[in-house]
Amino acid sequence: MASLAFSFFFFFLSLIASSSEAGSVGINYGRVANNLPTPTKVVELLKSQGINRVKLYDTDATVLTALANSGINVTVAMPNELLSAAAADQSFTDTWLQANIIKYYPSTQIEAIAVGNEVFVDPQNTTNYLVPAMKNVHASLVKQNLDNAIKISSPIALSALQSSYPTSSGSFKPELIEPVIKPMLEFLRQTGSYLMVNAYPFFAYAANSDTISLDYALFKENPGVIDSGNGLKYNNLFDAQIDAVNAAMSALQYDDVKVTVSETGWPSLGDNNEIGAGGDNAASYNGNLVRHVLNGSGTPLRPRDPLNVFLFALFNENQKTGPTSERNYGLFYPSEEKVYDIPLTVAQVNKSSLSPPSGTGRSQVPVTGDVSPSNAGVTWCVASGDTSEEKVQHALDYACGEGGADCAPIQPGAMCYNPNTLEAHASYAFNSYYQKKSRGVGTCDFGGAAYVVTQAPRYGKCEFPTGY
Ligand SMILES: *[C@@H]1O[C@H](CO)[C@@H](O)[C@H](O)[C@H]1NC(C)=O
Ligand SMILES: *[C@@H]1O[C@H](CO)[C@@H](O)[C@H](O)[C@H]1NC(C)=O
Ligand SMILES: *[C@@H]1O[C@H](CO)[C@@H](O)[C@H](O)[C@H]1NC(C)=O
Ligand SMILES: *[C@@H]1O[C@H](CO)[C@@H](O)[C@H](O)[C@H]1NC(C)=O
Repeated sequence: MASLAFSFFFFFLSLIASSSEAGSVGINYGRVANNLPTPTKVVELLKSQGINRVKLYDTDATVLTALANSGINVTVAMPNELLSAAAADQSFTDTWLQANIIKYYPSTQIEAIAVGNEVFVDPQNTTNYLVPAMKNVHASLVKQNLDNAIKISSPIALSALQSSYPTSSGSFKPELIEPVIKPMLEFLRQTGSYLMVNAYPFFAYAANSDTISLDYALFKENPGVIDSGNGLKYNNLFDAQIDAVNAAMSALQYDDVKVTVSETGWPSLGDNNEIGAGGDNAASYNGNLVRHVLNGSGTPLRPRDPLNVFLFALFNENQKTGPTSERNYGLFYPSEEKVYDIPLTVAQVNKSSLSPPSGTGRSQVPVTGDVSPSNAGVTWCVASGDTSEEKVQHALDYACGEGGADCAPIQPGAMCYNPNTLEAHASYAFNSYYQKKSRGVGTCDFGGAAYVVTQAPRYGKCEFPTGY
């Protein structure tokens, strides 16, 4: 229990420590409508709202021209229909890049290219073209010496996950892993890019409103959900969804690839059977999400990584097909009137903030006062001597396997092999895991086999790192 209180405490401190580095809020500018303002007017609207990142679904000439010299960073998209051509031939991507990027850059500050959108659920099944297309676009960028300035990614839907509950069990669909997920993550790692994820707590809530609480989905005060796999506490469904993706990447040893949420939103109107759709809920979801992102909170698994999100969407889009909700995700009506009022910038959050000051109110977990805050950055995780050997061994195996701890130093001949005891080896592995998880809440527990210490552990000549 003491160790649990300790780790809660340090998680709490890490929230304060990271709250200066805010994430970013952008918006998706979808245009499946026949009644939208001109792109020039839209750019004025974005500027008036303080929005400085926008994502498009194509490379429309009038839109990219209107965005020139606006101070707004732009993510453009190569539509799914072009993936097979882009995969087949680099001269195609060379030409495409010239006509759709180089023509506007750098007056139009293009920061990323989304190659395809939710490709794995594309009815035309363009999955096999995805990574080759990304590689060809990248090769074309390299020729222009723009590969550092412009990142390449591809938004995936959460349906790419096989498992997402509990969050720590997050895993990709097995049939996607070898053909496309691993090659894509490898590409993202090598190019210093990030995984784009479209995440909609609304869908999960609407489909499971009997088991998921609305307050949990809307970032309102709620008891939270404890992840039975690692003890982490989730206060909202959004964090749980993003961490399921993080866990799925960790399981494939891609902990270092970051996530950008390329779409998230909540409809302000829906059909009768679309449980949860509505203006108040949409305002709560989007407003609280923006507060969450801008106050610098990460997710429980990655508390120090600022969240970057693109809200979906700028406008209600009247030509979208499907249920009523599809046409009602906008923050604005085509008239530019607000559908509901939410803060979109730090200044607006500060002004509208009725929420408690940073670091309080996140949860009602007990906070112990027995460690001074100045020690917050300097903690280690060690094996507790009074747990059964079997349990410790099991936890050690987990840490070095699925857990992704760095266990090379405890192999025979390596620096931390001696003393060759289960306790020393387990301590090394548990600490590696704990540090890799940024000392997050519950990450030094291992079913009670581990606890947090504030003095550097001493085992032979072995040095225990405090960060990765
Ligand atoms: C826009 O992109 C530039 C260049 O990559 C970067 O320096 C700047 O911080 C970005 N601004 C925003 C708001 O993302
Ligand atoms: C798409 O193509 C892949 C690879 O050829 C195949 O494994 C998968 O079943 C296809 N998916 C659909 C929905 O047709
Ligand atoms: C918002 O409030 C925080 C904390 O009080 C402060 O550090 C920051 O400067 C404020 N930002 C703006 C733009 O007002
Ligand atoms: C950040 O915002 C969220 C959502 O409003 C809130 O629950 C949390 O307490 C805030 N955290 C900090 C450190 O201010």
